[in-house]
Amino acid sequence: MYNKLERNDACWCGSGKKYKVCHFNQDERIKLYKSKGCIVPNRSMIKSTAQINGIRESGKVNIEILDYITDQIQIGMSTGEIDRLIDHKTRELGGIPATLGYDGFPKSVCISINHEVCHGIPSDKVILQDGDILNVDVTTKVNGYYSDSSRMYCLGNVSADRLRLVDAARKAIDVGLEKARAWNFLGDIGQAINDFTRSMGYSVVKEIGGHGVGIEMHEEPYVSYVSKSGTEMLLVPGMVFTIEPMINAGKAGVILNKANGWTISTKDGKDSAQWEVTVLITDSGYEILAY
Ligand code: MF3
Ligand code: CO
Ligand code: CO
Repeated sequence: MYNKLERNDACWCGSGKKYKVCHFNQDERIKLYKSKGCIVPNRSMIKSTAQINGIRESGKVNIEILDYITDQIQIGMSTGEIDRLIDHKTRELGGIPATLGYDGFPKSVCISINHEVCHGIPSDKVILQDGDILNVDVTTKVNGYYSDSSRMYCLGNVSADRLRLVDAARKAIDVGLEKARAWNFLGDIGQAINDFTRSMGYSVVKEIGGHGVGIEMHEEPYVSYVSKSGTEMLLVPGMVFTIEPMINAGKAGVILNKANGWTISTKDGKDSAQWEVTVLITDSGYEILAY
């Protein structure tokens, strides 16, 4: 797969540069890892400069939407109202809310409160209460490029237990980002996050993880947070994926709401928290594209 091009040919990435001064060295290094039995990304998982620029612009809109919601959100509001604000803001900024209609998802954002883990469906019947913690997960499409990030919001008088959980979920992102560098493995990120989470007395959801993102909302690779260091896919400059561990205060088990077909909650009814970042692997480390 990596040896068809001659060194003086135009690079496969579309940069217009000769292969030998573009992706040649990187491809040789990937081949070496592959020959040792490592899981390596294929070319579709390594974004070109033009694609990265597109995803970066999408990420800017994604961040602006979350910043806007940070200013607006308050006790007494319904999650349906937040959905309308996000839908409107996204379009105002030239984007499309990517969750709307995705596999039939009915709304422009996922909002998951307290014991809900992810894929909460906004509703005019769900009113934000004093003491709630909630995740607002925004996926944005701009000029064909996708970005995906989420934040937690703590409303009013939030218990110390909930604040600690939300803080740990945020720190889990930092712990993962520390391992987000080229020639590490996805499992390095997964294990670091899992070790940290357990050290806090919490557990990581096993069934749902992060994903490549950019050309589609969900691309390969799948990013597990229950993986082992030195395993899973090799990280290579140009890869774009999310880090989005779901952290449960109690046990890791989750259940799907069969009535709405979407919302995942903790099995034990205890709280869950999640932050999500879209990250680009660079030559020197990483760049956050949405958070
Ligand atoms: N934004 C979610 C994620 O982090 C995906 C939501 S898909 C939906 O991957 F259909 F539930 F909206
Ligand atoms: Co995501
Ligand atoms: Co998301």
